[in-house]
Amino acid sequence: MEQKSIQREEWNNKLGFILAAVGSAVGLGNLWGFAYSSSEGGGAAFVILYIFVVLIVCIPIFVAEFALGRNTNVSAYLAPIKAAGNNWAPLGWLFIIAPIAIASYYAVVMSWTGEVFLLSLFDGLPKNASESANFFKSISTGNHVFIGQLFSLGLGSYIVSGGIKKGIEKLNLICMPILFLILFLLVIWAAFLGKAGEGYSNLLLNFDIKQLTNPTNISLAFSQAFFSLSLGIGVMITYASYLNKKSNLPKQAIQISFLDTLVGLMAGLITFPIIYTFNMSSSISESTIGTLFTTIPTGLGQYGLVGRLMAVLFFGLAYIAAITSMVSLLEVPVSTLIDKFNLKRKYASIYSFLLIFVIGIPSVKSISFLDNLDSIARTLLIGGGFLVAFLMGSVLPRSIRNRT
Ligand code: PFF
Repeated sequence: MEQKSIQREEWNNKLGFILAAVGSAVGLGNLWGFAYSSSEGGGAAFVILYIFVVLIVCIPIFVAEFALGRNTNVSAYLAPIKAAGNNWAPLGWLFIIAPIAIASYYAVVMSWTGEVFLLSLFDGLPKNASESANFFKSISTGNHVFIGQLFSLGLGSYIVSGGIKKGIEKLNLICMPILFLILFLLVIWAAFLGKAGEGYSNLLLNFDIKQLTNPTNISLAFSQAFFSLSLGIGVMITYASYLNKKSNLPKQAIQISFLDTLVGLMAGLITFPIIYTFNMSSSISESTIGTLFTTIPTGLGQYGLVGRLMAVLFFGLAYIAAITSMVSLLEVPVSTLIDKFNLKRKYASIYSFLLIFVIGIPSVKSISFLDNLDSIARTLLIGGGFLVAFLMGSVLPRSIRNRT
């Protein structure tokens, strides 16, 4: 079995690791998925279920993934094999397939995000519901989407080719404080919108106890929590493989989950006041990702120059959130190529970039393909997370007991 722990890089310090993990977790999923899921899942009932899933299910899985990565010190593909033998190779494969699949469509959604950012800055935004449909079509169809997809993947691969300390850690050290600052400014601005109170009460106070046992809501909470925390996919295993042995894993898992949930809630505190103030609530549930690219630009488009400025901030924030998630997805295949084939990081980044670009072509061409891939990937994440928990909680302790 390959083992390449000799010259393995390490994070500069604890903060670098935590920021990188928060950077992976906080992404487009927090900005689009949280508002969408809570509007679909009965507002407060969804938020309660979400927090319950994070506390009871996700944090233990986080610790299991961290422990697997830190103790094996290899990429996510090799980690289950190194820990529990070749029978666990399929889990390694899952950790290669899932991040590549997600990165392939995530780059496409990043392309739309970048385009809305540029349109808010230089051109203008839709002003009513009928303009909004054309707006979404114009940013999401046509060959120009390839430019954004290539740019996003290229930027991510370039950063990853810089390595753990000089690439990923440095990016997050710069981007995370900026992200929290913009988020904070937007939450305050949104609090002064005309129907902010109505927005908050729909997000947090609209509570129906029956919704807590609704299977659709439970599955929404699981899928949103795993996706948002980047669990079950090999990303956290890979990041933890660059940790030294001294780190306090449960504490870090709690800190990362707390910050990610906080960002999801803060995003809701921005999007819900916009949606209710500009009477866009009927269009939230039309599509999963549509919310971010139709409802928000159209709401802000009705608010003149200030609205455009806020859109620049919001979509700038979204792009920053997305690039720090994209590098974490790319690091999984890159570290695997380095470990398994002894490739230089630069070439591993170029090959991963090319592969993901090609796999992303159908998502550029078809939104329904993208949507389906997203649903499949979210299911894989939940499966992957539970398998890591089973491996670390049951299989390993038993084999260690048998050995002693
Ligand atoms: N957590 C990211 C988000 O919420 O947008 C998406 C993501 C990144 C999912 C990395 C999975 C992953 F491994």
